[in-house]
Amino acid sequence: MQHKVLLIGAGSICPAHIQAFGALGDRAKVVGIVARHTESARQAIEAAGLDAVAYTDYRQAIEESGCDIVSVMTPPDSHCEITVWALEHGCHVLVEKPMAPSLAECDTMLDAARRTGNQLAVVAQSRCLTPIWRTKQLLDSGLPGKLLYTQVNSLWYRGRSYYDLAWRGSWATEGGGCTLVHAVHHIDLLAWMAGMPRQVTAMIGNVAHTNSEEEDLSMAMLRFDDGSFAQLTANLVSHGQKQALSFACENAVLEIPHALSADTPQENGFPRENTALLTELEAAYAAMPPLAYEGHAGLADNLLRAVDEGAPLISDGQAGRNTMELIMAIYKSASENAPVTLPITPDDPFYTRTGVQTRMPHFYKKTGFLSQFTHNEITLASSNMG
Ligand SMILES: NC(=O)c1ccc[n+]([C@@H]2O[C@H](COP(=O)([O-])OP(=O)(O)OC[C@H]3O[C@@H](n4cnc5c(N)ncnc54)[C@H](O)[C@@H]3O)[C@@H](O)[C@H]2O)c1
Repeated sequence: MQHKVLLIGAGSICPAHIQAFGALGDRAKVVGIVARHTESARQAIEAAGLDAVAYTDYRQAIEESGCDIVSVMTPPDSHCEITVWALEHGCHVLVEKPMAPSLAECDTMLDAARRTGNQLAVVAQSRCLTPIWRTKQLLDSGLPGKLLYTQVNSLWYRGRSYYDLAWRGSWATEGGGCTLVHAVHHIDLLAWMAGMPRQVTAMIGNVAHTNSEEEDLSMAMLRFDDGSFAQLTANLVSHGQKQALSFACENAVLEIPHALSADTPQENGFPRENTALLTELEAAYAAMPPLAYEGHAGLADNLLRAVDEGAPLISDGQAGRNTMELIMAIYKSASENAPVTLPITPDDPFYTRTGVQTRMPHFYKKTGFLSQFTHNEITLASSNMG
């Protein structure tokens, strides 16, 4: 069966979705693109040489295009509304990160997926990179031993003009700064590989983006039920964007970008390289076949297989929600200057968008209100970690 795909949003991430579904050959056809202005949708269609219709109203597009798959790539504040509408009108949905700016909206989306029985996948394209996929399998294999400490460096660089776009730099429309919008990729990997922590202690600040209300730097310490720890740094001031995760286990350290270390203690406790284990780990890593589809294409392929064959989603709505819960815990801890214990329950102010917006520090006044950039080429998280 050929699936009919509707893309909602024609901005900087749209080409990644066009390529992702395009990579699946006859299994999928993009039948329409929706943007606030017809011209943007038309440009995206023409640039990709698609035989598709340009729309400005997503409700009309869902009704008229005959689509059964919807990819939502609008600004985060509209993810919930559009996703729920699409699910309720018979479509399976892939929604861009962050799933939504609040846990309340994530729960509304999850509820719609449960009620309708339609699939809800959340973009976490780093899960579909072969080196990261292999690291996850290796961690789960038991060979490295129990995970003791995870370190996450979600380091990015964005100039001031990044916040000239109308919806960015505002708690109301973007929903958060580097922790929500950028570190979301690495926080997703952290939750996927290390699990959910019990307690979060964090600080946030804005050290360089004086035209944004939101944070451009955050640091968090996480404590897990099994006694292990994690540490996360996210910022937008790191030239070179050297992003990395490191998983310190009892027998070995696994790193992304790929690196392995393994030691055994000598009589005095000092380390000696465990060459036998290193060889075994490297062999297990290399023996895993590469993924058939990488990045967004991996998620598109997986969504179609979930619909056609009942395959489990690689990144489902619950995974998207877990990531959001961790981010909200970081925001709550930073704004209250105190440790936060998970879960964040519906009676917590940090469960709703209004609660978050009214409690977070507004660092600077937002000044730029461009509807789009003339030059809109971007680099993806996946390009830094493959
Ligand atoms: N996965 C990734 O690596 C990655 C990278 C960049 C952006 N994103 C995410 O993708 C989403 C969009 O980001 P972007 O940079 O492409 O934004 P953008 O501002 O470049 O484009 C947004 C598009 O959405 C359209 N739009 C907005 N509201 C709409 C509505 N109600 N109905 C129909 N169309 C609407 C706009 O017209 C525009 O075409 C965000 O959630 C962002 O976080 C993900």
